[in-house]
Amino acid sequence: MISYSPAKIMKGVILAGGLATRLYPLTHATNKHLLPVYDKPMIYYPIQVLLKAGIDEILVVTGGPHAGDFIRVLQNGSDLGIKHLEYTYQTKPDGGIADALDMAKDFADGGPVAVILGDNTTDADISKGIKSFKDGALIFLKKVADPERYGVPVFDKTGKKILKIEEKPKVPKSDYAVTGLYVYDNSVFKIIKTLKLSERGQLEVTDINNAYLRKGALRWEELDGFWTDAGTPASLFKANMFWAVKKGVNLL
Ligand code: DAU
Repeated sequence: MISYSPAKIMKGVILAGGLATRLYPLTHATNKHLLPVYDKPMIYYPIQVLLKAGIDEILVVTGGPHAGDFIRVLQNGSDLGIKHLEYTYQTKPDGGIADALDMAKDFADGGPVAVILGDNTTDADISKGIKSFKDGALIFLKKVADPERYGVPVFDKTGKKILKIEEKPKVPKSDYAVTGLYVYDNSVFKIIKTLKLSERGQLEVTDINNAYLRKGALRWEELDGFWTDAGTPASLFKANMFWAVKKGVNLL
C-alpha cells in the first residue's frame, strides 16, 4: 500500500492578478504583487507562507498589462526554494478571485489546493491546518479593526459556528475578516462553475465559501500571528512597517 503525507501532495496557488486600481499611480508601471514590502517584492511573502507549510509546487495566476514582470523577478523559483513553479494568465484582468482560481484547475490535477492571495502577508504558520486537511474547505480568520473591508463571518449564538459570510458588509456582524488564505478540495472547481457575477461584476471567493458552508463542509481556524492585505496605500504601508520592524529596523 502506498502511504503519503497530505502536506507533500498539497499544491499551492498564489492569486496575483487583478488591476490594483486602488494603488494607482503605484501600479501603472508594474503589478501590485511586485511592489516592495520592506526589502522584498510583495509576492515573496505568500510564497514563504506556502514553503513554510511544506508546499513547494506552486502556480502563480496573474494577468493584466504587467504579467511578464513576474518571470524577471521569480524566474523558475529555485532561488526561493520552490521545486516546481508554473505561471498562468487570467484573461479577464479583473474577473474576480474565483475566476482567477478557476485557472488552476489543470494544475490541481484532481487534488486539493492551498490558495493564498498575492497581496496577503502574514507571519503565521498554517502547517497544522494543511497537514490535517482532508476534504471540504478550510478558511483562516483574523480579528481586525475594519471588518467592513473584507469578507466577514456571521456566527451563531455560540460564536463558533459560521452561518454565512458577507462580502464587505456596511454593518459587519463580527470583528473577524476572512483572510486570503484558503484550503479547498477539488470540488472547488465544480463550485466555481455554479457562481454568478456579483454586483461588482466579479466571481467572488466569498460565494465559494458560502457554497461550502451550505454543504456543511467549511471549517475555520483563527490565524495566529500578524496578518494584513496590502491592496490599499494604508495597508501596503502597514505591511511595510510590520516587516521592517520585525527585521530589526528602528523606525524613529
Ligand atoms: O484580503 C482578504 C480579502 O480579499 C477577503 O476578506 C475578501 O473576502 C476578498 O474578496 C478579497 O477582498 P479584496 O476586494 O480586497 O480583494 P482584491 O480585489 O484586492 O484582490 C485580492 C487579490 O486577489 C489580489 O491581490 C490578486 C487576486 N485577484 C483579484 C482579482 C479581483 C486576482 O488574481 N484576480 C482578480 O480578478
